[in-house]
Amino acid sequence: MTDTNDGAEDGDGDADAPGADSVALDPWGSSTVSDYRKLFDEFGIESFEDVIDDVPNPHFLMRRAIIFGHRDYRRVAAAMRNGEPFAALSGFMPTGDPHIGHKMVFDELVWHQQQGADTYALIADLEAHAARGLTWDEIDDHAEDYLLSLLALGFDADEGTLYRQSANRELQDLAFELGVEANFSELEAIYGFDGETDVSHMQSVVTQMADILYPQLDEPKPTVIPVGPDQDPHMRLARDVAERTRFFKVTEAYASVAFDDDERPLVAAAYDARGEYADDPDRPRCTEAADYLREADDVTAPYGGDVVESVVEKLENAGMEPLRPRIRFFDRQATDEAFEALIDEVRGEKRVFEGHVDAFEIDREAAEDLALAVEVDHGGYGFVPPSSIYHRFMTGLTGGKMSSSVPASHISLLDDPAEGYDKVKAATTGGRETAELQRELGGEPDKCPVYELYAYLLAGDDDEFAQRVYDECAGGDRLCGDCKEQAADLMAEFLEDHQEKREQAREVLDGLDVELDSRRSRV
Ligand code: TRP
Ligand code: SF4
Repeated sequence: MTDTNDGAEDGDGDADAPGADSVALDPWGSSTVSDYRKLFDEFGIESFEDVIDDVPNPHFLMRRAIIFGHRDYRRVAAAMRNGEPFAALSGFMPTGDPHIGHKMVFDELVWHQQQGADTYALIADLEAHAARGLTWDEIDDHAEDYLLSLLALGFDADEGTLYRQSANRELQDLAFELGVEANFSELEAIYGFDGETDVSHMQSVVTQMADILYPQLDEPKPTVIPVGPDQDPHMRLARDVAERTRFFKVTEAYASVAFDDDERPLVAAAYDARGEYADDPDRPRCTEAADYLREADDVTAPYGGDVVESVVEKLENAGMEPLRPRIRFFDRQATDEAFEALIDEVRGEKRVFEGHVDAFEIDREAAEDLALAVEVDHGGYGFVPPSSIYHRFMTGLTGGKMSSSVPASHISLLDDPAEGYDKVKAATTGGRETAELQRELGGEPDKCPVYELYAYLLAGDDDEFAQRVYDECAGGDRLCGDCKEQAADLMAEFLEDHQEKREQAREVLDGLDVELDSRRSRV
């Protein structure tokens, strides 16, 4: 989560393990993200801008592009639009006071809950103990503070679920099962773990995989995990592991021979061009397609030489077999009964092979739904790949990173309102050296931590207000002294109100079934 901002200062040394440096996104490291665009190219995170129009009633963090990226959020937005079940979950490592960075995630959870999500928040106490070395007493104190702030910000505990990792038996059973699908080499590659890494630290990883899939234990459903981009390695692993538990793999195929993912688009292109080369365009032959591809340089140009060669060879070997699109269900790890049931349920023309069945009259989406239904019917999890959304990290008030070990750099949700006021007044700005210069050139709100406070928090849902601050600053009509005064007042107001609500939330928390005293040994 925003704990990337907290830096390695809190770490127990695992983050400094050799090899960790080569990991660009390190959930326990101190990496700051300087270039968000890079995350799109390097890791395949998609821009949130591309999906925001699918969201019925986007949150202000989405509208202001503070939530900048996502994985697979489309399926969550679709469920939201169609009134279908979906879930949201995030987790918090209780390593210090909850601060305004965490508030963003609390807000994201509360908002998803208000949009109809089955919503979960968890205290990652196993992770805090294993990866950050906190004692159970420290963890208990902080856990309560996170929950109180979440409740104060509007989380409905009657509708949603709160848990701590260590007290959730079902979660740990799931973690154990998921651990079957991941091995050490993978953790080494993803997190830079090595021979010195604590076993419990590794266990905290499978626990997080279980957290991410936990909302689907009752019933598979689209699930969004709002986090900072430092948590993306966990998302990638969770999505992989979830897929590995599935009974069937559904792919598109064109002939009895199997084409790889990178080969399939070329075969599809050859199929689409069948009118150009097939004796009978209703029955293009594999060998005809092979001959065609050998000559069709413009079609093969975007593909690597290896891919082209391999596709041509496979088509050649298939000879007179017709090239014909179909949906292929691979039996990945289904029980015999489940595979039989799937075969039975496939409507229309089908062909059954040793480890797969080809269906000629159903589309991809119907096939996915069928595979999932049969899996769930036969005792499988049927996990839908979990989605994520990523928010930008707030800049520290002193410039640089926001770090919980540098009190002046952040505002804790527990800070005295007067202290919050002072911290804002003392913050670095994007202002010019003198008032004259500021009037002449305008300030630089894009480089200003105070402007961020407005955009991320103080302006709340009021876009017009946030925009006005921006324009006035950039236009030279706003000077930093007054601007900070206004922000400081708003911050003090917010803290006062929030802390009042925290007190009211105590009663709610007392009535909940969340373990606040871990009663563990004092190590
Ligand atoms: N690893 C997260 C952090 O460092 C906490 C966490 C644990 C979490 N389980 C999670 C976050 C599941 C999102 C989803 O803050
Ligand atoms: Fe930042 Fe406000 Fe100064 Fe602009 S006027 S640089 S937003 S403090």
